[in-house]
Amino acid sequence: MAAAIFLLFYNLLMRVSVGVSGGIAAYKAAELVRALQRLGLEVHVVMTAGACRFVQPLTFAALTGYKVITSLWQDPEVTEAVAGPNGIDHIAEAQWADALVVSPATANILAKFAHGIADDFLTTMYLATTSPVLVAPAMNVNMWNHAATQANLEILRQRGVQVIEPETGELACGMVGAGRMAETATIADAVFGAIGRGHDLAGEVVLVTAGGTREAVDPVRFLGNRSSGKMGYALATAAQSRGAKVILVSGPSGLHPPSQCEVVKVISAGEMRDAVVARMNEASIIIKAAAVADYRPVAVSAQKLKRSGPLTLELAPTEDILAEVVSCRRPGQLIIGFAAETENRMENGRAKLLRKGADAIVVNDVSGSGVGIEADTNAATFLTRDTAIELPEMPKRQLADRILDEILALRRPRPVVVELDDHEEGGAIHDGAQKESVPSGARRQLIVE
Ligand SMILES: Cc1cc2nc3c(=O)[nH]c(=O)nc-3n(C[C@H](O)[C@H](O)[C@H](O)COP(=O)(O)O)c2cc1C
Repeated sequence: MAAAIFLLFYNLLMRVSVGVSGGIAAYKAAELVRALQRLGLEVHVVMTAGACRFVQPLTFAALTGYKVITSLWQDPEVTEAVAGPNGIDHIAEAQWADALVVSPATANILAKFAHGIADDFLTTMYLATTSPVLVAPAMNVNMWNHAATQANLEILRQRGVQVIEPETGELACGMVGAGRMAETATIADAVFGAIGRGHDLAGEVVLVTAGGTREAVDPVRFLGNRSSGKMGYALATAAQSRGAKVILVSGPSGLHPPSQCEVVKVISAGEMRDAVVARMNEASIIIKAAAVADYRPVAVSAQKLKRSGPLTLELAPTEDILAEVVSCRRPGQLIIGFAAETENRMENGRAKLLRKGADAIVVNDVSGSGVGIEADTNAATFLTRDTAIELPEMPKRQLADRILDEILALRRPRPVVVELDDHEEGGAIHDGAQKESVPSGARRQLIVE
């Protein structure tokens, strides 16, 4: 009860702008406003001109108790209410909001967000906000499936916008397929999740490595791997949106880094090692998500190799960057490695954790297709000395937040777990601990907070 009251008061400090764009589902934004208010959030509504064709601003004004923003060119009375005297509304609203959720998000608004078009209040505010942005698309199935819409969504995902996937079913246009806006409760939960994390990484400097490395064979050829950099870039994006300063050390990748993070571009394992060692002292958290080559050619041919029968390349091991970073860590620094495994995932992950001395290893299974390397989704196990937390398949951006949650949890004092075989008596049972009856041969756990 006390916790619920605390949550309500805490949330009262949190503020959400609901953007409404011009689709049939605009009427559902009224339900969303109510759902967010029930979570204790303060809500403003911003409507596009298209949205005003579907729903009257008065509906939202009545629900929120605030004037609804419908234009960049407001009358002075609205400007003063939103931004104060001499204020600039869209900047003030962008700073006011702890999150912006656009629901419904039309194909048009997604395209404008993706391409930085700022020709009305909502699109201008989107560019001006540094808070989490969520979009709940709703449209005809063919509009949803169109390559342009999907490409725009991909750009937005890469930039850290949370896309609340639409559902499949009967659509307002009479067709059946994907494009029906997610349920109100799903959208409200997503907003709550996004602001719940807030700026919990404020003050942290997070160094993330991403992508694969390339080890030259000759002037045009290299040994590389299939890593796309998506997991590392998602971690950089998530850390930045949670308030961290981010240094992203990236191997070659076609991805756009988050706009405000510092990017150090490298090509080979040696360059990655130099960049990480040069910058590691600035970081409070180091996440090594890059797929660094384990071997490089001993000799790099100065000229392009010609085909002339069988060729044997002699390879030498590259630097063990994770081990080096652990060996010269400074107190309080958290170091997280990644392990991509094709067999004996847990055994190999645990062995790596113990061998390298990192605080945790994120173990991926890269044997299958569809998840992990190159894919947009991933599943992993967050492995520490005491725990193995399963993170089921989800979009990499979402997984990035879950990984950051677990990393932050490493900073909290951990309970001590004492395990006793049933036949062992008088071990380390502390005063006040209750003896439970357990089946013969079972193990008992004593958790000491
Ligand atoms: C009756 C009607 C229903 C519409 N429904 C949708 C829709 O559900 N999703 C969508 O993306 N566009 C829909 N549109 C098209 C948008 O209203 C149009 O692209 C408009 O430019 C969107 O402007 P806005 O994104 O600035 O609100 C609809 C148009 C009409 C006339």
